[in-house]
Amino acid sequence: MTLKDLWFDPSLCFIGNMWVSPDNGQALALQDPSTGQDIGEIACGTSADIDRAVAAAEAALSGEWGRMTAPERGRILARIGQLVQDHADALARMEALDVGKPLKQAKADVAALARYMEFYGGAADKIHGTTIPYLDGYTVYTLREPHGVTGHIIPWNYPMQIIGRSVGAALAMGNAAVLKPAEEACLTALAFADLARQAGLPDGALNVVPGLGKEAGAALASHPGVGHISFTGSVGVGKLIQTATAQNVLPVTLELGGKSPQLVFDDADVDAALPFLINAGIQNAGQTCSASSRILVQRGVYDQVRDKMATRYNDLQAGSAMSDLDLGPLISARQKDIVEGFLGQGASLERVATGQIAPDTPNGGHYIAPTLFAGVSPNHTLAQDEIFGPVQVIIPFEDEAQAIEIANGTKFGLVASVWSRDGARQMRLAKKLRSGQVFLNNYGAGGGVELPFGGTGLSGHGREKGFEALYGFSMLKTVAAFHG
Ligand code: NAI
Ligand code: MG
Repeated sequence: MTLKDLWFDPSLCFIGNMWVSPDNGQALALQDPSTGQDIGEIACGTSADIDRAVAAAEAALSGEWGRMTAPERGRILARIGQLVQDHADALARMEALDVGKPLKQAKADVAALARYMEFYGGAADKIHGTTIPYLDGYTVYTLREPHGVTGHIIPWNYPMQIIGRSVGAALAMGNAAVLKPAEEACLTALAFADLARQAGLPDGALNVVPGLGKEAGAALASHPGVGHISFTGSVGVGKLIQTATAQNVLPVTLELGGKSPQLVFDDADVDAALPFLINAGIQNAGQTCSASSRILVQRGVYDQVRDKMATRYNDLQAGSAMSDLDLGPLISARQKDIVEGFLGQGASLERVATGQIAPDTPNGGHYIAPTLFAGVSPNHTLAQDEIFGPVQVIIPFEDEAQAIEIANGTKFGLVASVWSRDGARQMRLAKKLRSGQVFLNNYGAGGGVELPFGGTGLSGHGREKGFEALYGFSMLKTVAAFHG
């Protein structure tokens, strides 16, 4: 796959169902993380392009899109899902090129995007209000209405999955969306917009403006025409978004990553846990909001877990996206610097295993060999901060109380898992862990399009995925009628 194979021009914005040049004609370099080479240009949209996109979305709401019934919207989303599947191979290759992720992960992301469209297409006409028994002579009911124009500011790590869970749910509820993809990876966002057009999504219901966060992103977050912002990315930018949206008193969904733990107790099935312990750390080279970067292990199985993880780690291979190994490169030289900085801070820790960078891997790519530390203190930087790279720490614990204290002992709270055969313990921990999702004897439950997702603390607030997202992307109106 090269940019010549694309069926659309990636240097344009998609506004009002048309491909348009960015207002200032500026471009950003598009880089292949597997080689570090610039391979083309994407649009560098500005606040003027965001203005145009918001105006197109407003026009959609007062036009054909706004008049559509929920089943009609649902049918269009389902058609988009079908087109995503029809273009699965091209989308996967595009994402592998743009993000540097191994092809099999890119294929999984395509499947998830299609599934989101199918799920939210099916759900569009199944969200409704209620009637409320009230005073004599009254009939009271509630309506679920769209916010209006929704802004979606997304990161580079899982563009397709995040478009699915965020734009999919917003469109299902009848909002008109403006999507600002990350400057590092926007190809599949543009491809998605074109597939939506082919599926018959009316003019302006979805607009895509690539550009820099501090320009296009900031303009979208503070735009007076926007009714809701959904953001996935760093804690620092999440705070800026919450501050910007406060000026317009907007509802905002923030998904800001985490430091998610897996708790392995003495009575766990260690061999069943092992692939989950490792994959949750190295998937997408650790650049995953729900990455499990902390492995908490009880003393009785500590040596066994550490040694088995180390054996597997030593065999892990990083390589180019198309070589489709265990992990690809990081997204950028900057992200690699961040991760190397953390590795430097772990210099005095017990490094129990380091994976490989495959021999024929291109020189300029942003590769980091996966690295496993053990015996790490829960207060160490590597056990507290989000690394966003293929680095995991093993932390020992003595008993359940200490496991809970360590697990809850960061500022984040996105995902946690418990590996134990003790049913009562599973139930206790499911309640006590401070986390938006808790998995019992698994991690991630296979992606979970249907499962509400989001965090607490610095991991953010609001929920995407599942039916819950549809409540977030809509406003509840109470109607009280007096008829005597
Ligand atoms: P970032 O938060 O800067 O980027 C995410 C999105 O926000 C991009 O679309 C970007 O253009 C936009 N953005 C940036 N500044 C903005 C602003 N002032 N106003 C509005 N939008 C803005 O994340 P970055 O710099 O790419 O990664 C840095 C760290 O953030 C990573 O090392 C990781 O720890 C964390 N991160 C977490 C993610 C998650 O899935 N929760 C995803 C990406 C990054
Ligand atoms: Mg940034």
